[in-house]
Amino acid sequence: MKNNETESRGAPSRRTFLQRLTSGVIGLGAVLGSWPMFRALVPNVLYEPPKRVRLGSPGTFQNGMTYLEEHRVFLLRDGNSYSAVSGVCSHLGCTVKFAPFEQSRQLTVRDHEFEALGEFHCPCHGSKFHGDGTNYSGPAPRPLQWHHLEVSPKDGSLVVDLALGVERDFKLVV
Ligand code: FES
Repeated sequence: MKNNETESRGAPSRRTFLQRLTSGVIGLGAVLGSWPMFRALVPNVLYEPPKRVRLGSPGTFQNGMTYLEEHRVFLLRDGNSYSAVSGVCSHLGCTVKFAPFEQSRQLTVRDHEFEALGEFHCPCHGSKFHGDGTNYSGPAPRPLQWHHLEVSPKDGSLVVDLALGVERDFKLVV
């Protein structure tokens, strides 16, 4: 009698309250239980920055070495010839610094002759690399990576492919 009175005034009875609570718990359990199934419908995608990057018009780069901090790449220009070497140390991935020579030097490293404007030093654990990227001191196990360059047919800008490695003597002549 009292319950009816309570319900008639709009407040739920104890039974109604327990029914709703049970329904809520069951509903929540169903949602949580099926979460892995819904999650499996969403692919595991790793969002990474693009690997092919437009650097700008070739003519805008000065002769010599230019560090492109955003991409951790050194762009080397020698007249109309361009090449790009990674600034990522092959030891644990710190960014190497370019240490220019007072005067360029003719070097032969691993049977490759080239004119070196300087060399690369890693500030983290002291690895050193010749100007052609070859590691010669410290814990770095491999040379620095050279990257493929091309000119975009759309607008003539230089495009570096950070996922595509090339030999250290690769040069793009524009
Ligand atoms: S990260 Fe460059 S020497 Fe260790």
